[in-house]
Amino acid sequence: MVQADRLWKRLQELGDIGRDASGGVTRFSYSCDEWAAKERVRYWMQQAGLDTWEDAVGNLFGRREGTDAAAPAVWLGSHLDSVAHGGNFDGPLGVLAAIEVVQSMTEASVQTRHPIEVVVFEDEEGARFGFGMIGSRAVAGRLAPAELDRHRDAQGRSLGWAMQAYGMDPAQIDRAVRSSSEVFAYLELHIEQGRVLESQGLPIGIVSGIAGPLWLNFTFKGMSGHAGATPMTLRQDALAAAAEAMLVMEQVAQDVPGCVATVGKLTVQPGGVNIIPGVVSLTLDLRNAIESLRNQAEQRILEQVEKACLRRNVDVTVQTLQRIAPVECAPSLRGVLHQSCEELGVSGFDLVSGAGHDGMQLVDLCPVGMVFVPSREGISHQPEEWTSPVDCIMGTQVLYQAALHLAKEGIVQ
Ligand code: GLV
Ligand code: MN
Ligand code: MN
Repeated sequence: MVQADRLWKRLQELGDIGRDASGGVTRFSYSCDEWAAKERVRYWMQQAGLDTWEDAVGNLFGRREGTDAAAPAVWLGSHLDSVAHGGNFDGPLGVLAAIEVVQSMTEASVQTRHPIEVVVFEDEEGARFGFGMIGSRAVAGRLAPAELDRHRDAQGRSLGWAMQAYGMDPAQIDRAVRSSSEVFAYLELHIEQGRVLESQGLPIGIVSGIAGPLWLNFTFKGMSGHAGATPMTLRQDALAAAAEAMLVMEQVAQDVPGCVATVGKLTVQPGGVNIIPGVVSLTLDLRNAIESLRNQAEQRILEQVEKACLRRNVDVTVQTLQRIAPVECAPSLRGVLHQSCEELGVSGFDLVSGAGHDGMQLVDLCPVGMVFVPSREGISHQPEEWTSPVDCIMGTQVLYQAALHLAKEGIVQ
């Protein structure tokens, strides 16, 4: 069976890579810290007896053969990159649980017909380039070459540049594409990042669908000027326009059922106590599990922000960073997960994921399923992110049981 101590020890060890002054973890894609985390994980994959390789965009794979070499692989995985000052469970738990599953299968001399591949996806979070799920897009054939130049980090370096600095050839990204005939199913264990499970005292969530994130960048251009010498009637204050826009975003999200809207980044130029802001940019993260409702909210926001800017004589331009459609998890995999929970004597609670995950990019490649474990106080993307060892191991056991059903019996399809 899966070993709780080994899983927990590895989780703690991984958390030291990229630990920052906040006590949390900052591990951006294609950084030294992310590379070090992947190398540590590659070592554990090898200890688990897996054959390892990195693909053309930096996804790390570890493969355990089945008895039928031609059978498509069951994929288990998650990511190792983090947001800025994030926690140590979002991503790493799913990766380490996947290794724990295959290592304990091997230790118990369990044979499966299907191979199992542990997958560490490159850049799920989108924290560096404002564009995420890069590795999962690539394996699904959804990473267009044009995206490599389009997305830039805070230093103005492109995604393609970062790949090259990491030792990869951006011209070769299509080598990462995998076909449906190679992948049987994808399962990911993840922390819930909300408080539904904890508030109801439930140990396991089975994800029915994943809300789709839309990321927009708004740039407001007004007129900078002297804070003391410019009367209120003559101002074109870009920050005042942005503030009004933020309130519009909040109000629309409150009005449209199931919508959430967040402004997480704001830059103000020139940025002086006694200078009227001339240029402001902000990001909007807008989500809904129902795409038409998200589109409706987006339209309302754009119309109202434009009106406010017109009234204020401020220019506004909007750039789409990423637009990801909500997805449903495969009913067949949800069935396998429920069955696995029953066999372990725990109840699996159906819930929608408000957070995005790599599985969203894989739905045309293979059936996708997700298992959630509780997050303490629903806290995530912060250093205080925490899931108890008991909950982590219970989720890993469910993953083990479900992976066994899939890889041995090929339940899906
Ligand atoms: C990733 O965690 C996201 O949902 O943005
Ligand atoms: Mn995650
Ligand atoms: Mn995350």
